[in-house]
Amino acid sequence: MKLPHILMLAAAMTLASISTLSCKSADEKACCNKGAIEVAVPERPAGQETALGMTADPIEIVRVGFIGLGDRGTGAVPRYCHIPGVEIKALCDVEPDRVERSQQILAYYNLPAADSYSGPDAWKQVCEREDIDLIYICTDWINHTPIALYAMEHNKHVAIEVPAATTLDEIWDLINTSERTRKHCMMLENCVYDFFEMTALKMAQEGLFGEIIHAEGAYQHNLDPYWKGYWHNWRLDFNHKNRGDVYPTHGIGPICQALNIHRGDRMMTLVSMDTDPFNGPKHVQAQTGEECTDFKNGDQTCTLIRTENGKTMLIEHDVMTPRPYSRMYQLVGTDGYAGKYPVGQICLRTEGHENVAYDNLGGELVYMYGDLDALMAQHRSDILTPELETLAKQVGGHGGMDFIMDYRLIYCLQNGLPLDMDVYDLAEWCCLGELSRISLEHGNMPVAVPDFTRGAWKDAEGKAVINGFHYAFAE
Ligand SMILES: NC(=O)c1ccc[n+]([C@@H]2O[C@H](COP(=O)([O-])OP(=O)(O)OC[C@H]3O[C@@H](n4cnc5c(N)ncnc54)[C@H](O)[C@@H]3O)[C@@H](O)[C@H]2O)c1
Repeated sequence: MKLPHILMLAAAMTLASISTLSCKSADEKACCNKGAIEVAVPERPAGQETALGMTADPIEIVRVGFIGLGDRGTGAVPRYCHIPGVEIKALCDVEPDRVERSQQILAYYNLPAADSYSGPDAWKQVCEREDIDLIYICTDWINHTPIALYAMEHNKHVAIEVPAATTLDEIWDLINTSERTRKHCMMLENCVYDFFEMTALKMAQEGLFGEIIHAEGAYQHNLDPYWKGYWHNWRLDFNHKNRGDVYPTHGIGPICQALNIHRGDRMMTLVSMDTDPFNGPKHVQAQTGEECTDFKNGDQTCTLIRTENGKTMLIEHDVMTPRPYSRMYQLVGTDGYAGKYPVGQICLRTEGHENVAYDNLGGELVYMYGDLDALMAQHRSDILTPELETLAKQVGGHGGMDFIMDYRLIYCLQNGLPLDMDVYDLAEWCCLGELSRISLEHGNMPVAVPDFTRGAWKDAEGKAVINGFHYAFAE
């Protein structure tokens, strides 16, 4: 290329970036996504409607079938033994001894035995039963969506462990099937029910932090001690074969709620970067004894997202280094801040608190430790009654959040309420898997995030349903 052409190109690129930077109107904002890689957004098939705010007939006694009774499924069964108005009808796993282990849990709680199913295709028989309302899926990732689709087609609500789907095709299948069958399809994202996240969400909804403009979330968890425990090595295999943020939902779920994603805002564009896989191949070699040269998943993956309303998010994934466990969980508002790791902190502006001593550089009012507990006690989530909190801490599951999640799911089904998390939450939180891969494989190019609500995100105003708020549709 001759020099003048290069200069002209440089000038054109400068103009392009200036016009992008000065985007103001709604039309102009749409131009900000120009240049981003677009993935297909299939039209909603004729005859089906949005599942936003979807309700189903109340179910007095919720009859549950569990599919997948490894580490996570075996933890879920005793939690359900503590929820009023539940009958455990079926227990299913490929491995018969895992089914038997869960039967012993029912016996321990003096509950009737469930029907046992084992073998690779036994899950179909569970989904086909007439006397089950909810299929609770805790298998490895690639089995989640096929089981969920089959269950909804057989008139069952589904609850699916994280991530519920690993590809965009799977996500659209789940959306379309839930919209068409009017069956609930909820991902079991427990971290939104952690005490800190629930309280910070309530504070954000009350306006304590001003407007939330940026948020961070992550899954930083050294899985060294765990890799060998997964059934047939499914998790390391998945990381081996797939680049991108393959486990984004614990990080992104709680912050999407605080940013009102698909409740008045939506994710527009993302960009991802990853490191090389430095440690990943060593785990494969340790298990196979052979050198691994084709490990895909970077040890550290970062994704930046910009929303329609001009907010940003940072999501990280690192399961390969000795970095201390963290989901980051930071909310940055115009007038305040909440952060959970490594030590919980809430920071507010000092106006009205002039007599409080502070020694931090920014001069903001920092609540930590006992002060933080006292502040948080004033902003409890509406769903967290003292009785539920006591029971959750007693039953446990990641400190109680797993129990609150299960309790809320059953409560909403029993009362015919929309669920706290809908199929569009599932879609938005899972899509990072494939979209981050696309960005990484195209030199970190921006990728447009599909509008999984197909336009309805603008109509659903307000706050995440977790604090007892359900959709208020704009007139
Ligand atoms: N939310 C959380 O905090 C959290 C924590 C751990 C795991 N998880 C998720 O839970 C899920 C399960 O993880 P895990 O640690 O229990 O894995 P695991 O390997 O211990 O268990 C998976 C189980 O699924 C069974 N299974 C596989 N295919 C099946 C099929 N077709 N029919 C019936 N059973 C089948 C296996 O036999 C195994 O018992 C994963 O999605 C994981 O990401 C979530």
